[in-house]
Amino acid sequence: MSAPVFDVARIGPGEGSIAPRTRLTSDAPTQSLDGRWRFRLSPSPALAPHDGWTAGDTDGWDEIAVPAHWNMSGFGTPAYSNVQFPFPIDPPYPPDENPVGDYVRRIDVDDAIRQVTDAGGRVLLRFDGIESAADVFVNGTRLGSTRGSRLTHEFDVTDHLTGTGDVVAVRVAQFSDGTYLENQDMWWLPGIFRSVTLLARPVGGIDDAVVTGDFDHETGRGAVEVTTSADAVLEIAELGIRQGVPAGRSTVDAGEVGPWSAETPRLYTATLRTASETVSVRIGFRRVRADDGVLTLNGRPIMLRGVNRHEHDPDRGRVHTTELARRDLVLMKQHNINAVRTSHYPPHAELLDLADELGLYVIDECDLETHEYEYVSWRGNPSDDPAWEASFVDRIRRTVTRDRTHPSVIMWSLGNESGAGCNIRAMARWVRENDGTRLIHYEGDHSSRDTDVYSRMYASHDEVRRIGEEADEIAPADIGAAELRRRSLPFVHCEFGHAMGNSPGGVKEYWDLYERFPRLAGGFIWEWIEHAIAVEDEHGRRAFRYGGDFGESVHDHNFVIDGLISADRDVRPGLVDYAAIVAPVVIEVDAARRRIRLQNRYDHVDTSHLAFRWRREVDGETVAHGELTVPAVGPRQRAEVPLPDEARVVSGSSVADVLTVDAVLREGTSWASAGHVVATGQHVAAGTPRVGQASAPEPDEFDRRGRPLRLGSLGVVDGPGIGIWRAPTDNDLFPGWDEPTLPPMAERWALARIDRMQTRVRSVESDAAALVVDTRVGAPSFDSGVDALWRWSTVPEGLLLELDLRSIGSWDNSWIEKAPFSWTVDWARLGIDVTFAGAPVGMEFAGYGPGPSYPDTASGVQFGWFDAGADDLVTPHVRPQESGSRRGVRTAVIRTTEGGVRVSVVGGEALDAGVALTVSPWDRTTLSTTSHASLLPTPTATHVSIDIAQSGVGTATCGPGVLPRHRLPARDASFALLFETA
Ligand code: GAL
Repeated sequence: MSAPVFDVARIGPGEGSIAPRTRLTSDAPTQSLDGRWRFRLSPSPALAPHDGWTAGDTDGWDEIAVPAHWNMSGFGTPAYSNVQFPFPIDPPYPPDENPVGDYVRRIDVDDAIRQVTDAGGRVLLRFDGIESAADVFVNGTRLGSTRGSRLTHEFDVTDHLTGTGDVVAVRVAQFSDGTYLENQDMWWLPGIFRSVTLLARPVGGIDDAVVTGDFDHETGRGAVEVTTSADAVLEIAELGIRQGVPAGRSTVDAGEVGPWSAETPRLYTATLRTASETVSVRIGFRRVRADDGVLTLNGRPIMLRGVNRHEHDPDRGRVHTTELARRDLVLMKQHNINAVRTSHYPPHAELLDLADELGLYVIDECDLETHEYEYVSWRGNPSDDPAWEASFVDRIRRTVTRDRTHPSVIMWSLGNESGAGCNIRAMARWVRENDGTRLIHYEGDHSSRDTDVYSRMYASHDEVRRIGEEADEIAPADIGAAELRRRSLPFVHCEFGHAMGNSPGGVKEYWDLYERFPRLAGGFIWEWIEHAIAVEDEHGRRAFRYGGDFGESVHDHNFVIDGLISADRDVRPGLVDYAAIVAPVVIEVDAARRRIRLQNRYDHVDTSHLAFRWRREVDGETVAHGELTVPAVGPRQRAEVPLPDEARVVSGSSVADVLTVDAVLREGTSWASAGHVVATGQHVAAGTPRVGQASAPEPDEFDRRGRPLRLGSLGVVDGPGIGIWRAPTDNDLFPGWDEPTLPPMAERWALARIDRMQTRVRSVESDAAALVVDTRVGAPSFDSGVDALWRWSTVPEGLLLELDLRSIGSWDNSWIEKAPFSWTVDWARLGIDVTFAGAPVGMEFAGYGPGPSYPDTASGVQFGWFDAGADDLVTPHVRPQESGSRRGVRTAVIRTTEGGVRVSVVGGEALDAGVALTVSPWDRTTLSTTSHASLLPTPTATHVSIDIAQSGVGTATCGPGVLPRHRLPARDASFALLFETA
């Protein structure tokens, strides 16, 4: 057997495959080659044996599943890196240490396919995804190679198959020249990770076809654009269309049609038939345009309420399953998301079927990213090197060609973070020449010379406002025609709101801008899913891992854990917040004027599919409820609707009198059942708590430092004391892009030592009405801190605490001699910390919930009476950090295994806003020093913080830090709490 050379360092696309074709559903026979394959792993191409394996000699080999990644299947381990490249930038060469996987499968061709070939037809061997480069053999003959891991390649194998005992062999290299174009901030996961299929191609069949629907909003008529490789009969039964279409291009008038949009995902099934084959395509009639700086669909402006989605399964990597893909898109729809950017490669083909069907706009992104060149100042970037042109054009051609029938795809994205250059231009040219039915998106070249939209990632709020005002400048010295053109393009914020850990804050402020300026077409949160990898830990429990956990020498830690949902698809608080921010309906309850103000933010539909249900709750009891009569409010229209007499709030309750109006789906849809809440508006009238006559508490209920031994029936293990620190969130650990030269907040806190404050009791005195304790809590080495005056008294209801807090000293870096920059030490929070005996059992609370929120992530919570179990108290972030705060709490019962305490707000400034309550199984030092959730100790105590003020969380891991209005500069406060046994 001659030794085929496995060339993994050759600039250029794959070779030997047939021209890319549209993905069509055909009645021609197919045969899945998914399943068990023989497998052998070698450490590098040089060490991969040339021993006749391509002809089926696989004695002693292992087995592997296809589709799968070999390093998720027990052959090697996964590795994660972001911008930095895992090997030297020495294009087109991969390193010598470059695992090679050999795959072999012996097959008997199905009779149905054989009948087609017996009649003169052909057979194709299709690979939907191989990372990163493969050579393909049938019965020992090399057919060619693949490049473009997430792109389809088809080989004509007709002349190589015998029908029985045929050997399909594939040699895959983890790294190749192609890797230089695929540095997409994700796990490096080699192997045949998408399906392998044999496809029969009958004589006289339809080898390729494009069928799309165009909608003319002025006439309400549709047109079907057909391009087919063979004369065929087009049929769209629902529209009464049945007519011949010749090979080539034609347009068929469809008459009056229902248009497709994300809000009305109306699909029609079209078939193209020849004597030997019928293909079917689900088409939608829609027209997308950039009209005078506004993104429109079917003549109406649209807002993209988007997320970036990678393909990720915590157990399988980038292997697609219908179940997870559907779960993702259904969750998106349920959370008011209407757009997906398929970062940063074309998704599995089925995802687009689901997007068409459920109604989501898609930016379909090419499999391209050369971000590693940032480390070498973009020297030699392939995007601008003509030698790579064929590779780039091949990638966009395969992307567009496969997916061009999908109505959901409204933009082609040329790739991600690959800089500018001649090859990006060549890609854009190819798209313009081959598909006029979508816009072109690309963020990497801010001149936007080749795109139809101006796209940016993580622009600051201020910059986004300037873009909205068309006053943004990227080339102030040269306001030429190109720059003027760019300023007139619709703006897409292709990544914003970096959802890493307890995040993203400040999204609402972005959304207000998008709503204000017609040029701003919305944005896409980075990102949808956390890419944690599931493993079994030493106790046999499911645990999650991130970069560095598999011994990688070059890695980016937990930067891959930055999603609105966990890898297991648990909803993170950021998604709840986003759902409310982007809600298609805004309800403002004007209790004084006894009406609601409604804003319909749907772009295409009125509100008639929604019912508006109201309820009045007083101190946790629903005292009245009903449904409002709301006229259909048209898209992007507003209305005012009167409230009935019983729908009112009055003062006089003890906790709160709350009027809530929910907009709910009247009928079930494919993504939610009837009654699903789309938007909520509320008016909360805070109650007036009363406490009886105060007297001094019994001294034996306090220790000598004036601290209560118990609160309610709970033994106090530590505290209460004053705290202004939190366990740093991921965002706290990064300098915000708005303050790139300043130390991250967490570092400022550590420098100011607010993470290790010490308390000195200045006096403990008793008068007739109270035990008065004067404390100073200070940071080691500094004279700054917080003075606290605690007044404890017994009231008939329980124990009353009146607390006065005063900031002392200065909170900045003026103490650092010759500091090049000055900064302030804003606090994380201001409140009481107390540790109770017993592990947490849960809490019932009246406040904003049901989930956690912070000042800049507070859109998705409503006032209510909630019960959080032990597992709901804090968010199980993969890297432990601060989480779990319930804000606006007026009263709560905290339960541990040892008992319970009710804490209620009874005075001071907390009467207006309530307090933020965090009940955690772990103290902040443990949270901040434990690398993984799975390593947190079994809880033995309950750590409670009652905060009168908090800082927001911002999105500093990528983007601005906490916005000034959500920061917490040092300040004074006073409030009163009542503790009762519960
Ligand atoms: C962007 C990039 C994404 C991701 C993100 C950080 O620059 O496009 O792929 O890396 O930053 O999580």
